Formats: sequence, C-alpha cells, structure tokens
Amino acid sequence: MVTNCIIFLSTTLLFLLILSSNQCSAQLKRDYYRDSCPNVESIVRNSVKKKLQETFVTGPATLRLFFHDCFIQGCDASVILASRTGDAEKDAEDDLSLAGDGFDTVIRAKEAVESVPECKNEVSCADILALATRDVILLSGGPKYGVELGRKDGRISTKASVGGHLPLAHFNYKKLRNMFASHGLSEVDLIALSGYAKQLQKACPRDVDPRVAVPLDPASPLKFDNSFYKNLQQGKGLLASDQALYSTRKSKRVVNAFASNSSLFERIFVSSMTRLGRLGVKTGNQGEIRKDCRVINS
Ligand code: HEM
Ligand SMILES: *[C@@H]1O[C@H](CO)[C@@H](O)[C@H](O)[C@H]1NC(C)=O
Repeated sequence: MVTNCIIFLSTTLLFLLILSSNQCSAQLKRDYYRDSCPNVESIVRNSVKKKLQETFVTGPATLRLFFHDCFIQGCDASVILASRTGDAEKDAEDDLSLAGDGFDTVIRAKEAVESVPECKNEVSCADILALATRDVILLSGGPKYGVELGRKDGRISTKASVGGHLPLAHFNYKKLRNMFASHGLSEVDLIALSGYAKQLQKACPRDVDPRVAVPLDPASPLKFDNSFYKNLQQGKGLLASDQALYSTRKSKRVVNAFASNSSLFERIFVSSMTRLGRLGVKTGNQGEIRKDCRVINS
C-alpha cells in the first residue's frame, strides 16, 4: 500500500516535470542588459514596489496585462500601445476590463529606467512588463525566479487581432486546453497559470475604492499558495472555467498534485510563466525599443 502510493506520487511528478520541461530559450537570456543597463532589475523592482504600496490592484492588473499581451501577437508590449482612433489591441472588448494600474505600472517603471542615463533607449517595454510581472508575484508572496530578457517591442497593435484569442469565463476544459495548445502551452501550463491568476482575482474586492491601499499582510488572501486547487477538489471554483479545470482524468491528476504539494505547484508555475514569456517574442529588427510605452517610435 505504502509502496503503491510512492510509485503513484513519483509517476505524477515525473509526468508533470516532463510536460513542463523547460529548455532554455534560443533568443532570450537573463543577463541581456548586463552591459547596457546593469541595474535594470532593481530600478524596475523599486518602481513596482512603490506602485504596489499605492494600490493592491497593481498585482492582478500587471499579471493579467502580461497574459493578455503574450497571447495576442506575442510578448511585445503591443497591448500597451494607444490609438487615437480607438482601434488598438487594448480597445478590443476582451481587453476593456484590463485595469489601468497595470499599464501605469509599466509606464512608470519605464520612466524610472529612462531616467538613468546609461539605460536610456536600451530596455524594451516588453521586458519591463515581464520584469514587473515577476516582481508583483514575488511581492505577493510567490516564488522568486529569474526572468529571461531581450524582447523587442512590437510596432503593430490592432483591435481586430484580439477577438477569439483570449479565454472566456464560460469555456469548458476542451476549449481552454485547445486555446492554450494553440500557443504551444500544455494542460499543466493552463492549470498552473490559471490557479495563481484566480488567487489574485479573488483577493481583489470589487466594491471598494481601488485607491485605498491594503497592507501586504502575509496572512491576507493575496498570499501565493495552492488553496485554489484545494477549493477545486471540493467543487468551489468560482467560474465555470475554474471548475472545468477539475473535469477530466488528466486535469484532476494535475490539480490533485498541486493541491497536495505547494512546492511542486510553485516550481511548475515558474516554468509555465517562463514559457508564457517566450510566446511570439520579437528579437533583432523584428521590433524596437520604444521610448514611450504608449506609442511606437516615429
Ligand atoms: C484560463 C482561462 C482564463 C479565463 C476564462 C479568464 C477570465 C478572466 C475574467 C472573466 C476575469 C475578470 C475580468 C473582469 O474584471 O471583468 C479575469 C481576471 C483576471 N485574469 Fe484571467 N482568465 C483566464 C486565465 C488567466 C491567466 C492564465 C492569467 C495570468 C497568468 C490571468 C490573470 C487574471 C487576473 C490577475 C485577473 C484579475 C484582474 C484584476 O482584478 O484587475 N487569467 N480573467
Ligand atoms: C513536492 O514536490 C517537490 C518538487 O518541487 C518534490 O521534491 C517533493 O518530493 C514533493 N513532495 C511530495 C510529498 O511528494
């Protein structure tokens, strides 16, 4: 009995690790700014920390912005571009509920980076969004991880590119799985990324003044943990698409593994975030280093 149990556990682990195996990206690297802007990580971190102290929405808003950016035209900060005629990515229906604080987080961090002479015109908005996302995760009690860097900013952002490419609340498991698969992400990625997103979403009271800051109490619901998966086991998913994550044999196996082992969840979550951050990345002259994150360079 005990032996059976151990065999089952290690098979589950092996299965998860294989599904989320994490080769290095050919294009991105962690020390990309080592010579051009060696302090970029601490500059962004300090700016994000300040913003997070002003409003707790900074956390969920930034994470969600990153997710939406990467799913549409790749992680190229195209979601931040504004259009005078209202036909940019962010004007699409599925993006209208993106909170302004996510955009503000990136814009302010970029300004902080630009104000350091050696970093001027060196760091992309896409990389700043990836760094800021890592920082809000860490500052919410999530795992610490290194971010791959070297993304260029896209020059194209259209409303028409969004429709049908982001998951909706009523999606069943098959639809969610297919949408993630169309981006090269696995079922394990789907379950790991959604879990933490829902954790933050739930922590955000809808009917309070978002300008009122809440203290980042380690015992508060903003804490990164695996309770979302425990709730799913008990049928307490908030949206239909939440409970859908506990509806197939395979997804139940992943949810059960995350629910019973939070360090496993953290480890897989980090590898899934890293793979999300590689989607459709632009390098070389496929993109540019935007001066202002809201507009393409003229
Ligand atoms: C997998 C299926 C998913 C569905 C169906 C979904 C859908 C939604 C919906 C309906 C909302 C509420 C929007 C509103 O306020 O009106 C939301 C919020 C949010 N989503 Fe997703 N989402 C999914 C996956 C993800 C993923 C993978 C991430 C990030 C890795 C993410 C991050 C967030 C966050 C952080 C919020 C809260 C934003 C805030 O309160 O400002 N979501 N999502
Ligand atoms: C939990 O997951 C970690 C991998 O992150 C593993 O090393 C550990 O053995 C697992 N614990 C149990 C009880 O399976």
